[in-house]
Amino acid sequence: MTERKKMTVETVNHPLVQHKLSLLRDQKTPSGDFRRILEEITTILFIHASKDLSLKTASISTPMDTSKCQLLDDTVVLVPILRAGLGMLNPILRLVPDARVEFMGLRRDESTLEPIQYYTHLTDSHSGASVFVLDPMVATGGSVLHTARILKENGLVQVKIISVITSSHAVKRLENTAEEVRLYTASVDPELNKHGFIIPGLGDAGDRIYNTF
Ligand code: PRP
Repeated sequence: MTERKKMTVETVNHPLVQHKLSLLRDQKTPSGDFRRILEEITTILFIHASKDLSLKTASISTPMDTSKCQLLDDTVVLVPILRAGLGMLNPILRLVPDARVEFMGLRRDESTLEPIQYYTHLTDSHSGASVFVLDPMVATGGSVLHTARILKENGLVQVKIISVITSSHAVKRLENTAEEVRLYTASVDPELNKHGFIIPGLGDAGDRIYNTF
């Protein structure tokens, strides 16, 4: 019998993450600051989410001698979920400049709260790659679940989700439906309101990033 792999959640309680999360939650934080702080918090979340990337040994000539060094040996694929996930892309590209970037365009139907796919750019040549799905908000979990399923259909099985705030509802849903998904987040918030917004949350991340209220 094959053992079912559980979905795992890591809440990153680093003091800087929690401090920056509070600034993101604050409705007085303007868009420019919101974008910058989102990038800062994403950097720290990604460092946690990427800690098991593989390394390979390489010989490097320093100005003084030859040194056996370690270099990344994984293909890193980043999949921001449009729009809000785009706000998390650049800080990770600064750390992994040669990462491959794919795109998933989703918006939620306001009545059903189900994701509607309006754009994708996913190639299927990444078998064995380390895939990071980026979305600041995981509310019902529908958007990341839809994305994880499509990535798995394309042969990408090691899927990690990086979010800033995840609802406890989404955690339960992902536990029951997704396999081999690891989620890294700054907070698991307790509630969803009837419009599918995370409570207390931080509002609509896409609108706050792009100042489209
Ligand atoms: C928000 C958010 C997530 C999604 C979360 O996006 O950025 O992508 O909703 O909801 P879920 O977990 O219930 O699927 P939205 O649809 O508002 O689009 P936007 O990023 O373009 O603003």
